[in-house]
Amino acid sequence: MTTLQTDFVTKNNPLIIPEKKSLIDKIITDNQDRPGATMVVLNEIQSAIGFISEEMQNYVALKLQVPVSRVHGVVSFYSFFTTSPRGKHTVKFCMGTACYVGGTSALIEKTKQVLGVEPGQTTKDGNITVEVCRCVGACSQAPVIVIDEDVIGRVKPNKLPQILKPIQEITG
Ligand code: FES
Repeated sequence: MTTLQTDFVTKNNPLIIPEKKSLIDKIITDNQDRPGATMVVLNEIQSAIGFISEEMQNYVALKLQVPVSRVHGVVSFYSFFTTSPRGKHTVKFCMGTACYVGGTSALIEKTKQVLGVEPGQTTKDGNITVEVCRCVGACSQAPVIVIDEDVIGRVKPNKLPQILKPIQEITG
């Protein structure tokens, strides 16, 4: 395995990093007896680690003694959970009414073709995380996307490759 691959695997699996595993264990121990423990634990892990991989979901299910399917169900239902580490860059698609009506779905579809990922996922090289967001207050320019901190309005699917190119090329 190359160093890059090793880094990627390590980054994707906090369960093999002692400090992160202790943190996850502490979150589980502190909350396991609370009502709605599954949701509380997943929420805390998302905040502390930044994502909840499938392995982590399986681990939580095992520790809380709940069905794995329930944990997977919660993680996939709520869009604020992410299942992989965040990238260096973030591309957010506004799901507010004006943008949604204005074509956000087509933009997400095009992004899938260009980057190979959908909202909630990060590109394999760890560079770009794709998410959805609520109205960012630029409705008159719908549909809007937000790249890192930059709001870009009136985005058309055929312009996306060009818009995404600069962050695909910046790897530092
Ligand atoms: S609905 Fe997208 S900016 Fe308001």
